Amino acid sequence: MQTILVTGGTGYIGSHTVVALLESGYKVVILDNLCNSSAKVVDRILKIAHPNAQLTFIEGDIRDTNKLDQLFKDHLFEGVIHFAGLKAVGQSVTHPITYYDNNVYGSLCLIQAMNTAKVKTIVFSSSATVYGEDAPVPYEESMPRGNTTNPYGTSKAMIEKILADQCIADNQWSVAQLRYFNPIGAHKSGLIGEDPKGIPNNLLPYITQVAIGKRKELSVFGVDYPTPDGTGIRDYIHVVDLAKGHLKALKKIQPTHNNPQEHRQGSGEHIWNLGTGQGYSVLEVICAFEKACGVIIPYATEPRRKGDLAAFWANANKARAELNWQAPLTLEHMVTDAWHWQQSNPQGYN
Ligand code: NAD
Ligand code: UD1
Repeated sequence: MQTILVTGGTGYIGSHTVVALLESGYKVVILDNLCNSSAKVVDRILKIAHPNAQLTFIEGDIRDTNKLDQLFKDHLFEGVIHFAGLKAVGQSVTHPITYYDNNVYGSLCLIQAMNTAKVKTIVFSSSATVYGEDAPVPYEESMPRGNTTNPYGTSKAMIEKILADQCIADNQWSVAQLRYFNPIGAHKSGLIGEDPKGIPNNLLPYITQVAIGKRKELSVFGVDYPTPDGTGIRDYIHVVDLAKGHLKALKKIQPTHNNPQEHRQGSGEHIWNLGTGQGYSVLEVICAFEKACGVIIPYATEPRRKGDLAAFWANANKARAELNWQAPLTLEHMVTDAWHWQQSNPQGYN
């Protein structure tokens, strides 16, 4: 049984990925400082996977180097999936130092501890935001890292570059840079899902909070984009499909144990888009939610949100060809599962 370290594993995407790992027979150690998640997630994960699944939760910060070194001494990790990070774009503009410290310095601490322990396999949570504001759609992995427009995006591009350079310096490193598009939805059990603190920044959590009566109406930011209905277009992906992409990527880049002397198949830097390849507008998402969940979402149109792009979606061919991975769950599944999670947990994990 292989053991995987999952940083940020009690968070939204991390928790769904831990379920997928446990269900596939991995042992998992979560390291999370709970700055944006709840320890209650651990019991929920076990409820879904199996009460006796091999899961250890350690509360701690990736910047705590002593703790990290001890962790790598206590466990024999086959690889690391690195979710831990701060992700609020607006907050990163007002608090850049906090973001570079947590995301970039934190990742450096992790990479250093891995290097010392000779654990050289990492799956990293990157973002479509690294393509920058000028990239043509659909985004393809061969495009350069672009002009990021905020410290959050820049922190992701910096971490990608650090990992890429490490692969050049040491050919035993295997790195998967997973560029997520817009993850939404929740596990079908309704036991785990997205639990934003305060006012949600992202579209779907805002919609579900309007639907449950926590917020009066949705603001639709921008109805004058050069898109068919004037609203922004994104590539929404079900978080469960996204989670499965991590397993495929991990398996692809893991060293081949049969012949360790041989140059490792998966070594080096690999970039994969994790999206569906299909874009939907804000109005289409509202419409899909109303239809699937039977709740009307009152909305008001507002000016464009600063920093938003009109439309982007993935070219998802590379992940399909190289990982044999696809995202079969539809927008209807995404909104239905998000609503089920919200209804089952009106106050999130509290
Ligand atoms: P999340 O906030 O739910 O999960 C992140 C987890 O990391 C949280 O549990 C938090 O407590 C933990 N964490 C943060 N800083 C830490 C630190 N210094 N030490 C230990 N734990 C720490 O976010 P998420 O949506 O699950 O995102 C996971 C990763 O994916 C993040 O790196 C995020 O930037 C990236 N990502 C997310 C999206 C998205 O739309 N959700 C899109 C692209 C990329
Ligand atoms: C945002 C982040 C991005 C991050 C992504 C996933 C910004 C500028 N970008 O992307 O870096 O990777 O989240 O976490 O914050 N919308 C509304 N009303 C709302 C909320 C959103 O109309 O209340 C619209 C937006 O204008 C956009 C679409 O819905 O067109 C999706 O927005 P959102 O969920 O915030 O994702 P992104 O903007 O793609």
